[in-house]
Order: sequence, then C-alpha cells, then structure tokens
Amino acid sequence: MRNFFLISFLLILTNLMQISCYEDIEHEELTSRLAEEIAEKYFSIDTQNTCITIVADLGVLQKFSAVNFSLVRISSNSPNDSCDTSMAEFIATSLREKCARYIVQIARPECFLPAWFEAIKNTIFERHNPKIIYLPVNDQENSSYGDALLATNETNISPNILVIENSEEEEEWPLKIYTNNFHQLVHEPERSPKIYLDDWHPSVGFRYGVNLFPDKMRNLQQKTLRLFTVPYVPYSNNDPIDGSEVRMVKEFCNVFNCKVEGVYDGMQWGEVYKENRTGIGQVGALYTENADIGVGANTYWLEYWPYIDFSDCYLGGAVVMIAPKPQVLGGWLTPFLPFPMDLWLLVMGVVIASAVGLYLLTNLTMKVSPSLAKKT
Ligand SMILES: *[C@@H]1O[C@H](CO)[C@@H](O)[C@H](O)[C@H]1NC(C)=O
Ligand SMILES: *[C@@H]1O[C@H](CO)[C@@H](O)[C@H](O)[C@H]1NC(C)=O
Ligand SMILES: *[C@@H]1O[C@H](CO)[C@@H](O)[C@H](O)[C@H]1NC(C)=O
Ligand SMILES: *[C@@H]1O[C@H](CO)[C@@H](O)[C@H](O)[C@H]1NC(C)=O
Ligand SMILES: *[C@@H]1O[C@H](CO)[C@@H](O)[C@H](O)[C@H]1NC(C)=O
Repeated sequence: MRNFFLISFLLILTNLMQISCYEDIEHEELTSRLAEEIAEKYFSIDTQNTCITIVADLGVLQKFSAVNFSLVRISSNSPNDSCDTSMAEFIATSLREKCARYIVQIARPECFLPAWFEAIKNTIFERHNPKIIYLPVNDQENSSYGDALLATNETNISPNILVIENSEEEEEWPLKIYTNNFHQLVHEPERSPKIYLDDWHPSVGFRYGVNLFPDKMRNLQQKTLRLFTVPYVPYSNNDPIDGSEVRMVKEFCNVFNCKVEGVYDGMQWGEVYKENRTGIGQVGALYTENADIGVGANTYWLEYWPYIDFSDCYLGGAVVMIAPKPQVLGGWLTPFLPFPMDLWLLVMGVVIASAVGLYLLTNLTMKVSPSLAKKT
C-alpha cells in the first residue's frame, strides 16, 4: 500500500514536472524537437519536394530526424568570428537538389543568407523562395538576436522566415516563434523587423496554434513594389511613371494591395558585371535586388537570361530575315546533282583503278604464261 502511494505520488509529480519544467531537457534537444514538429506540420504539405537542408554548427542538430524527408546536411565551421567561407559551396549542392527549405542553427546566423545569395549567383541562376527556420544556438544567447537578423537586406527575399528565440528567464514557454515583417522593406523607417507568432513548450506544443507560414502574398498590405521603368513609350516611362506595361503592374497592385514605387538610374536596360556582382540599369537593379520588377518592352534577351527571370509573353512579334537571292544553276548540271561530289569522285576513281588493274593483270598473265594469253 505504501508503495502504491509512493508510485502515484511520483506519477503526479512527473506529470506536474512535464507541464511546468523543461530545464532538464537540453537546449539542443528542445530546439531540435520544435524544428521536427514544424517540419512535419508545415513541410509535408508539399509532397513533390520532400527535402530539407540542415545548416548547423559542427555537432549541432545531429538528432534531427523527420519521417518522409530526405536531409542535406551542411556543417558550418567558423572557429573565429568570421563567416565560414565554404558554406556557399555546400549550399550550391543543396540548391541543385532543389532543397530550398532550411533549418539553420549556427553561431552566426547572419552569415547564412549572404552565403545563400553567393550560391544562387554562382550556380543555378534560378529564383527560389526559400523557407528558413533559424534556431538559437544555445540558451545563453541574447534572446533578441532576431531583431538584428531580420533587419538585414537579404531577408527581403522571402516571406517565409521564422526566427525562434529563447524566452526570458522563468517563463513557462521556453521558445518564442517570430516571423519576418515581409510587408515592409528592411530599410523603411519605423519598421519592426519581427512579428510575434506563437510560443512553444516541449510537452504541450504550440500555445495558440496559429499558422506559422501564413500566405503573405495574397494581401501585400501596401508593401512597396519597386518597379524599374525604362523610358520607352508607349510601354513604360519613368517621369511620370506610366505606360501600358506600368499600368499592368499598377493593376497587379490593385488586386494584391501593394503600392508602386519607381526606380530608375538613367542607364536604360543596362548590364550585369558578374565579376564583382554588381550591375547597372534595369537588369543590374533586378540582379542586385534593388528592384522587384522591370518593364520596358523587354524581349527574351539571351545575355540577360542567367541573371533575371522573364515573365510570360503578353505580346507576339514577327522577325523577318533577309538573305541574298540564290543563283540559278545551269541545266547541264542536273544529271550530276543527285549525288554529292565525293561520291562522283569515288566512282571515277573506281573506274580508273579497275582499268589500270585489268591492264596490269593482263600484262602479268602474258609474261608468266604466254600460252594462256594466246588461247584467249
Ligand atoms: C509518411 O508517408 C506515408 C506514405 O505516404 C504516410 O502514410 C505517413 O503518414 C507519412 N508519415 C508522416 C509522419 O507524415
Ligand atoms: C578566421 O579564420 C580564417 C581561416 O581559419 C582566417 O583566414 C582569418 O584570418 C581568421 N580571422 C580572424 C579575425 O581571426
Ligand atoms: C542583446 O542585444 C541587444 C541588441 O543587439 C543589446 O542591446 C543587448 O545589450 C544585448 N544583451 C546582452 C545580454 O548581450
Ligand atoms: C539595403 O537596401 C537599401 C535599398 O536598396 C539600401 O539603401 C541600403 O543601403 C541597403 N543596406 C545595406 C546594409 O546594404
Ligand atoms: C564592377 O565592374 C565593372 C566592370 O568591370 C566596373 O565598371 C564597375 O565600376 C565595378 N563596380 C564596382 C562597385 O566595383
């Protein structure tokens, strides 16, 4: 009987501990379990692509596993304060596998997106919308690292960035989940970089159960759409910002609730300098992420293809090729034309060779056995 009481007391105690206490679970396991939960809940919707890239410091996130997912692991090794320079190379490998969902747990999380851009610009030239989950690397970390991280220009690229932060001491919910403020550009004044979404506890799960990857594209909430306009009427003009193609973009903004801001640097369509990853004009602004859309009677220019994405065509055009008129051949050539020159040469060669061969053979026969020659 005493034992029974003891056991039930222990059971009640452990139950209480589970709800209120998470200190005995290691930080690494805590974050890993949250990442697994998010992956299974949100990444398994897309059954075409079941790949996740794990970017972690050496030895971190080793236990992460997700059923039905294939993983690409990238170890970051930055012993001193600089970024790991080899990371871009490994990210390129995962990009080739179309593995554009990332779980990042590195000591310097701000190093990840620059390396990602370097990988994109060096290898596949495709535009991706990466989904990124940043995990805090240890529980002593400054609990508000997300503000600085989500204030970097690179985070403009994706609506789907999550930052997990440790909560303050003595809070019931150990991890806080934030998303990036996609509806304002990073350098806009009075922008708060991160938006609070939810809390998480290892034994209870999510506190409010909100959608961690809401559709931010359906309603852009007056986001600024940077439109590069080349002065080329009637399609587009920069001063005033108007033209048939500009009006298309304005209509897009009517539907999706954004506002158009003109960008123009006076260099027309411009070009890209691959060596130093800069550029001028329209294609340069798009390549360096200083404009979102470019208009101005663009066609499928091959030299721009590696650096920007083209939309679908909305207007067809015809191209006429002009070539010199062919000369009429003389009628006497007609019998020879069905076969090529080398075939005719071969036929002639064979005729000559057989004549010579026959002559030599007859000569030989007359010399060796004159009687045989006489008989024939
Ligand atoms: C994994 O895939 C199988 C087959 O598609 C499915 O039955 C199972 O529920 C999946 N498991 C998880 C955890 O999603
Ligand atoms: C960091 O390490 C790299 C290579 O290990 C080295 O080239 C670089 O100088 C180091 N930086 C500092 C600030 O120590
Ligand atoms: C945490 O970071 C903020 C902003 O970068 C800084 O003001 C604060 O002093 C830091 N706190 C600690 C304990 O490092
Ligand atoms: C971020 O982009 C804006 C607009 O292109 C630019 O003015 C600003 O200097 C950039 N900031 C950094 C830190 O690169
Ligand atoms: C990049 O390279 C191009 C051509 O080599 C040069 O004209 C341009 O000034 C360079 N830009 C920067 C920022 O170095």
